[in-house]
Amino acid sequence: MKKIYFDYAATSIKRKKILEDILENADKFDGNPDSSHSFGREAKKILEESRGKIAKSINANPSQIIFTSGASESNNTVLSAFADKKIITTNIEHDSIENTYNPEKTILLKIGEDTNILDQLKEKLTDEVKLVSIMMVNNETGLIFPIKEIGEFLKDRDVYFHVDCVQAYGHLDIDVNAMNIDFLSLSGHKIGGINGFGVLFARENLPSFIKGGEQEKYRRAGTSFVIGAYSMAKSFPYMIEEREMIRELKNYLIESLGKTGLAFEINDNPEKYVDHIINIYFKDYRADFLLTYLDMYGIGVSAGSACRAGAVIPSKVVERIYGSERAKNSLRISLGFENSREDIDKLIEVLGALR
Ligand SMILES: Cc1ncc(COP(=O)(O)O)c(C=O)c1O
Repeated sequence: MKKIYFDYAATSIKRKKILEDILENADKFDGNPDSSHSFGREAKKILEESRGKIAKSINANPSQIIFTSGASESNNTVLSAFADKKIITTNIEHDSIENTYNPEKTILLKIGEDTNILDQLKEKLTDEVKLVSIMMVNNETGLIFPIKEIGEFLKDRDVYFHVDCVQAYGHLDIDVNAMNIDFLSLSGHKIGGINGFGVLFARENLPSFIKGGEQEKYRRAGTSFVIGAYSMAKSFPYMIEEREMIRELKNYLIESLGKTGLAFEINDNPEKYVDHIINIYFKDYRADFLLTYLDMYGIGVSAGSACRAGAVIPSKVVERIYGSERAKNSLRISLGFENSREDIDKLIEVLGALR
């Protein structure tokens, strides 16, 4: 049985070309980039080249790029630095934001079916607010927030702007200058890099969240993960090449869903969501049943985010936007570079057999 992976928003399939390339050049990654011998210098060269490429991908300066263990750490670093300040964020951020901010000092923008986030922000922003943290693309529904417009509004105000760009990176253009972003979080494994590597773009230095050595110019201690940086930097150009193909697959999936004969609705307006994430409400079937059923046919999908230790827990985001009954029957399908029309045909056939 051919297995089919539709859970790229949880983590991408690894790019075999990059893994092979790493193995072929394995000795270049041996040294610690902070060692002064030739092994160290070789690793340092790769680390800094990767930093340059990642910086360029978001129009940042390499000196503004801090390597971390993942976007959770990047998000924690920013939110913790503002723990005693008033902040504004949304009620559908990733758990690494939601479990870090100080609720007593936080104003939540509440996302509903037809929310205008900018209007809410304009209404809630006061001089006391020192940080606005808003994700670019929601990881559970694919909803896109108007980051450029928000950045424009915040531009000349005395407030920092943090954007969690994990699910946008590679799928949408990001420009930290044009978008007036002060801090931004990225994750390598969502685009095909090795898990456990992330990026924090910081226009200004924040207190180091992980304390220890002098790595990352004192901004983040710990021996650098050279292969993590390399695999992320190498993956990015592929993401740009694959955009058109993913868009085409999303349209094909939406067109084909009707053939299942199941009653369904897409969670969120397809015009407003990113191409690789489609969240679907199946009126007559529970998500935990569908997930197990599809898994029996080797098809991997998810209900909400993957951060909940293997349990099938309904999407908190669908729940907050549409209510808990709808969330219990909603599945997230997230597309990536190894998917094809045949994979979608198989999904439709297996779902159709439920009728
Ligand atoms: C929107 C968003 N932010 C942050 C994270 C955390 O990223 P990482 O796995 O690199 O810690 C994720 C991962 O699911 C995500 O989707």
